[in-house]
Amino acid sequence: MESLDYPIYFKGSFDGLAGAFTAAGLNGGRVCLITDRNVSELYLDEVRNKLAALNAEAFIFTPGEESKNLDVIRQIYDCFTHARMDRSSVAAALGGGVAGDMAGFAAATFMRGIKYVQIPTTLLAQVDSSVGGKTGVDVGGRKNLVGAFYQPAFVYINISVLDTLPPEQFASGMAEAIKTALIADKGFYRMFLANKQLIKNRDRSALLEVVKRSCRVKASVVAEDEKEEGLRGILNFGHTFGHAVESLSRFTLPHGHCVALGILAAMRLSLERGWINETYVDSVRELFEYFSLPVKVKGLEPEAILDQMAFDKKNKNGEIRMVLLKAAGKAVFNQSAGKESILKAIKYITD
Ligand SMILES: NC(=O)c1ccc[n+]([C@@H]2O[C@H](COP(=O)([O-])OP(=O)(O)OC[C@H]3O[C@@H](n4cnc5c(N)ncnc54)[C@H](O)[C@@H]3O)[C@@H](O)[C@H]2O)c1
Ligand SMILES: [Zn+2]
Repeated sequence: MESLDYPIYFKGSFDGLAGAFTAAGLNGGRVCLITDRNVSELYLDEVRNKLAALNAEAFIFTPGEESKNLDVIRQIYDCFTHARMDRSSVAAALGGGVAGDMAGFAAATFMRGIKYVQIPTTLLAQVDSSVGGKTGVDVGGRKNLVGAFYQPAFVYINISVLDTLPPEQFASGMAEAIKTALIADKGFYRMFLANKQLIKNRDRSALLEVVKRSCRVKASVVAEDEKEEGLRGILNFGHTFGHAVESLSRFTLPHGHCVALGILAAMRLSLERGWINETYVDSVRELFEYFSLPVKVKGLEPEAILDQMAFDKKNKNGEIRMVLLKAAGKAVFNQSAGKESILKAIKYITD
């Protein structure tokens, strides 16, 4: 990919992984694979075999967001120290967004920065979190409160690992891919509609297209605005509403499911401004339903969602800031709106 200065490999196996390390000049030092127990049971042996010449160490953690904290980071540092890792060593994230965010953060801070690579295994990580260099952990119950912008040396995407992904995780990643299509690429969204059946059936070439196009959009947005001072904000489309739902559900709903709900609310607000039409909103809602994503949230009061939105870290001067759609395939960030309009949009996903 030209827009960020590191390669993103799109493959159907782990066969090219050792070659990717060599091409990045990373075959001289120690390697530690950071992975959770589910992923390690499925793929660690295979990956280690492919990297046999590198004699990789492994750090295995309990799956889930609960592990994304500073205690586990400290355990990763201990593992690096025991493995006698130094500035020439490499941390490799093998797993979903949790492994990626933690491996990246540990790499950004260990000895003031060692190299790291991303080997994403969830759809969400393949279309979103492995690209762009945001790393971090949750602290004091607040998501991603502590972190760093730190780019990997390469991203190696093996699409075939999606075969074992549980349906809920697959749907969650799909929400982020659809988000990407909506904000920046009308052709990508049309492709989604045309190929939805193949995509849902996890057809390899259809999925490859989804992952490639998502990464392309994300990489080009990040290349323009790495530290999120402006444009990168469009990637948060659906997230102001979505994060509020996610927090209120106490993280029992998967992230992508909350994003899908958030996208619908943000589209409703864009519709009210006359920027997009109803047919477009309906088509997105139907696409979410097709991918088993929620289009309504139960048991939450609209006012509670609105109050929760006020805590979003993207807000400025106490005013809620959102990403809206100015037109199909064109997002605008930093949009504020009156409480009544926001409530109306929320009611679209609660009633
Ligand atoms: N850095 C970023 O830009 C960015 C962007 C979006 C999300 N995130 C972060 O990503 C995290 C969510 O990532 P996630 O949804 O990938 O969660 P995750 O890493 O917890 O993975 C979800 C589940 O899928 C399992 N799994 C992973 N790959 C599998 C496979 N191939 N087959 C079977 N099971 C598999 C995992 O063990 C886990 O139980 C959150 O912490 C979020 O904050 C970061
Ligand atoms: Zn997201």
